[in-house]
Amino acid sequence: MIEKLRHLFTETLTQLFGENFSHIDSLVVPASNPKFGDYQCNIALSLAKTLQQSPRVIAQTIIDNLKIDDFCETLEIAGPGFINIKIKSDYIAQQIKLAYKSDNLGVTKIEESSKVIVDFSSPNIAKEMHVGHLRSTIIGDSIARILEFRGYDVLRLNHVGDWGTQFGMLISYLRLEKPEVLTTANAVEIGDLVTLYKQAKIKFDQDLEFQEKARQEVVKLQSKDPESIKAWQLLCEQSRREFEVIYQLLDITLTERGESFYNPFLSDVIIDLKKANILTEDQGAKCVFLEGFINKENKPLPLIVQKTDGGYNYATTDLAALKYRINEDKASRIIYVTDAGQANHFTQVFQVAKKANYIPDNVELVHVPFGLVLAEDGKKIKTRSGETIRLKDLLDEAINRAKKDLENRLETETRNETEEFINQVSKIVGLSAVKYADLSQNRTTDYKFSYEKMLALQGNTAPYLLYAYVRVQGISRKGNIDLNQLNSDTQIILTQDSELVLAKHLLQLDFIIKEVEKDLLPNRLCLYLFELSQKFNQFYDQCPILSAEEKVKLSRLILADLTAKVIKQGLSLLGISVLERM
Ligand code: ARG
Repeated sequence: MIEKLRHLFTETLTQLFGENFSHIDSLVVPASNPKFGDYQCNIALSLAKTLQQSPRVIAQTIIDNLKIDDFCETLEIAGPGFINIKIKSDYIAQQIKLAYKSDNLGVTKIEESSKVIVDFSSPNIAKEMHVGHLRSTIIGDSIARILEFRGYDVLRLNHVGDWGTQFGMLISYLRLEKPEVLTTANAVEIGDLVTLYKQAKIKFDQDLEFQEKARQEVVKLQSKDPESIKAWQLLCEQSRREFEVIYQLLDITLTERGESFYNPFLSDVIIDLKKANILTEDQGAKCVFLEGFINKENKPLPLIVQKTDGGYNYATTDLAALKYRINEDKASRIIYVTDAGQANHFTQVFQVAKKANYIPDNVELVHVPFGLVLAEDGKKIKTRSGETIRLKDLLDEAINRAKKDLENRLETETRNETEEFINQVSKIVGLSAVKYADLSQNRTTDYKFSYEKMLALQGNTAPYLLYAYVRVQGISRKGNIDLNQLNSDTQIILTQDSELVLAKHLLQLDFIIKEVEKDLLPNRLCLYLFELSQKFNQFYDQCPILSAEEKVKLSRLILADLTAKVIKQGLSLLGISVLERM
């Protein structure tokens, strides 16, 4: 709708004021207050200076020439020169019918598909997958789902930290302390591996002889010594199994392509940077200096791409990865989902890549940063004894709490349900609550993790949305109506305010999805779905469905069913599945 309006306004502006206006943003936006209409156009105000006319006069000229009375009520000028736009109910009814019939609920697909890479989750081998990785996993998965829904060919990459000098240190340490880990699968729990890693680090920092051993181990690893490679593989598998538990629980699909994959391409990066004339040697290290990056002492801050000992860095791998993703994967947009703390890293890597001519004009690189997950007291999230929380425990706790809530509710409602039902519902509610709590925040801010808030049946929460969906299924059960059999040619009747408000909101899905495609903020979709549920609940309270006369009943059933379908689709784009009963 909004696109159609924007297009028509721009067309009229061009016709009135000339070709210069053919690319102008017509400033049509959703109305600031529904009292004034559905949309408003603010262009007249911004043109006053250029055209040397009063905004109200310009607005009137536009209105006189705009041909939109087939779907809009008479346009009105308000205040200094806003144009208020109200869509005709007949037109809305007709659009609802089309959306109901369409496979994609009225969401248009992109015309020509292209490859998009979403780099997300990306935990590190032999280290704990922490809440930051959980955020990346949830946000990245949702972004990938939304882009897939729009028709993009999405490659979901897990850029696992599986390479680097730390493996030399860890393997050397294990050789001394726990050699069986290096030769037998599953000889150690990931938690223990993390502890061993920490101990190795301590030894490394104190013991010169051990440092030398670790270095030799790195050399062996890099020269593909079979025994070292085998040990490294076992460590990777160990961690991978642990990550897999989380991915399965959260229903996440990812293609693992860790840092080690780019190992053969790292030396080329150095050659490329040299060719581009941007490589500097600084105390034996190879680095690139970029404008605007300074350290605490106000001195230029280099991006180190090769250390004095010849080892490569995190940034070098990202440069090699960029080149590969553009040249081999043919990506047109590359999206990195990490905590905001890595913003500088990506700005530097992107700039260096540009200077090295890695990035063609039609390729877009985006860092999608997110804030921290905090405990309710605003501090770092920890267990009672002060340790970092294991993700599996955090998710289990959400499921357990959802189960307790459900059991209480069943008791007050004197309902009897099977163990299977209870487990199934608690699992979906618990996991959805965690995902939704994360996604519904503007990702750029820190957010406070609260089981109580995320599991509440009221407010902008997963249970509230799931409940709205269940309500529709309840109507169908109560009225013994198979919603799949509703005749999509049924006349849509929009006479009540709450019907019209709901219908208009349903038609905004297309716009919202495209906004998220652009700004990669899934919280906008969450807000849309929350408002949809609220509007549906108002409609449900004010408009009887099953007891209404046949024609009205059918029309309302379609509105309810379309709402359910949009909620189901919307939630699935957030990685959340619905329940028929709860
Ligand atoms: N492994 C990194 C970490 O845990 C995240 C990797 C993000 N992706 C990338 N291409 N750098 O912080």
